[in-house]
Amino acid sequence: MDTQNDKNTLNFSPDTPSKCTWATGNDIKNSPHRHVQITPSEEKILPNILSQTRNTPIVRINKLNKDAKLKCELLAKCEYFNAGGSVKDRIGRRMIEDAEEKGLIKPGDVIIEPTAGNTGIGLALAACVKGYKCIFVMPEYMSMDKVNILHALGAEIVRSPNTTTLDSPDSDFGVAHRLQKEIANSIILNQFRNAENPLVHYDETAEEILQACDGKLDMFIACTGTGGTITGVGRKLKEKCPQCKVIGVRSEAIPGKLNEVEGLKRGFIPTTLDTSIIDKWYECSNKDSFICARRLISEEGLLCDDWMIDRKYLEKQVSTKNQKWREMKVSSLDLVYSPTLIASLSCYDCINIMEMKGLEQMPVLDEKGRVIGIATMGNMNAQLKAGKVNTSTPVSSVTYKQFKKITLDTTLSKLSSILDIDYFSIVINEQMQSSESNDVFCKQTIAIVKKIDLLRFIFKQQEAEALPIEGI
Ligand SMILES: Cc1ncc(COP(=O)(O)O)c(C=O)c1O
Repeated sequence: MDTQNDKNTLNFSPDTPSKCTWATGNDIKNSPHRHVQITPSEEKILPNILSQTRNTPIVRINKLNKDAKLKCELLAKCEYFNAGGSVKDRIGRRMIEDAEEKGLIKPGDVIIEPTAGNTGIGLALAACVKGYKCIFVMPEYMSMDKVNILHALGAEIVRSPNTTTLDSPDSDFGVAHRLQKEIANSIILNQFRNAENPLVHYDETAEEILQACDGKLDMFIACTGTGGTITGVGRKLKEKCPQCKVIGVRSEAIPGKLNEVEGLKRGFIPTTLDTSIIDKWYECSNKDSFICARRLISEEGLLCDDWMIDRKYLEKQVSTKNQKWREMKVSSLDLVYSPTLIASLSCYDCINIMEMKGLEQMPVLDEKGRVIGIATMGNMNAQLKAGKVNTSTPVSSVTYKQFKKITLDTTLSKLSSILDIDYFSIVINEQMQSSESNDVFCKQTIAIVKKIDLLRFIFKQQEAEALPIEGI
């Protein structure tokens, strides 16, 4: 190694002979280099990665505060240093450990959770260390980046449609509850209601902040999803540092548009959010949030972005062992071909038809016989109850339209990736038939496939082969 750059030569070749005089056993005092003593950390070797889901660094912001002409010190708690990359790793660990302590779960059980993604990553991290399987229900608009990480951690994703009301059986909450009823030894830990969510922040996050600031803090600002962070930290601060103001940040609501800051606005007050602890609320636009995040990266070096995932490196790590099902065809599934509805029929007529036929969902066709999506009884009832439609509204207004058409020849692997994005897929089977008068015509049969149909098939397949359930 060179002890200094050779400024007088233009030779920048990376393999010039080293001029370093360092040798094993030499007294460090005579070292040609500058040495820095490190302070030993308390834990020498972490027992597993879950120990890396706390004690995140607090960093002083030096430029953004000056630009904003702030008179106070501005500090950032870098939760992205947690092993799974977000504050949600803390609740993933804590909710699983609590359920274990209460005897509610044992290794091998299935953890189901409706999640925007980061709680899923936190749960999946704890689940893979402790031996649980995970199924996460994510609305269709949530990003594929998170889906890819979740797959790499061995979790399965079920999509729910974007256009539902909260209490619809098709919402992420409704779908998660249906799955939990159908899957043996499964549990929903429910981040929106679980007391361990705010508690982990009360016990840990808040203590870390108070220790770093020697108990002196004027203001604590946090964004809110479940409200677990702000509630837990806020409650501890009100006890130990009562003059400290607690400021909640919500992302803006744009009517009719999806929020791009994932997971932060749901239009309801979660059980885990104690609004009485919050002194003032602010709304932050999507644009301002993203500009600030980029400035934190480029001006302060706080790399709060998903570099690895953006470049799809994590996608490549998905294991496909014990996954014979991937090569099998859609024709192997137990498909139930369905009668159809015409798009111009009223919701009233469609509910009657579904009741008569004992069906919960039916494909909807336009006037030319082309499939435009599916209508579900649950969504129609929820939309009627919420006053968003009336009984004479055409069914096309409550039809879920995000889907891909597949055939009996589509592989289950392809179907699985489609259902990583969409709530359902439609199988169209076209057969040429001839009538008694020898006229040849095309007969179309239609079936709806959802992730649960695929999961049931894979569970059965792997049980029959007595294989460990992997890559579902
Ligand atoms: C990265 C990240 N930070 C913060 C939050 C909000 O935290 P909380 O749910 O504790 O309010 C979320 C919510 O999903 C999140 O994903």
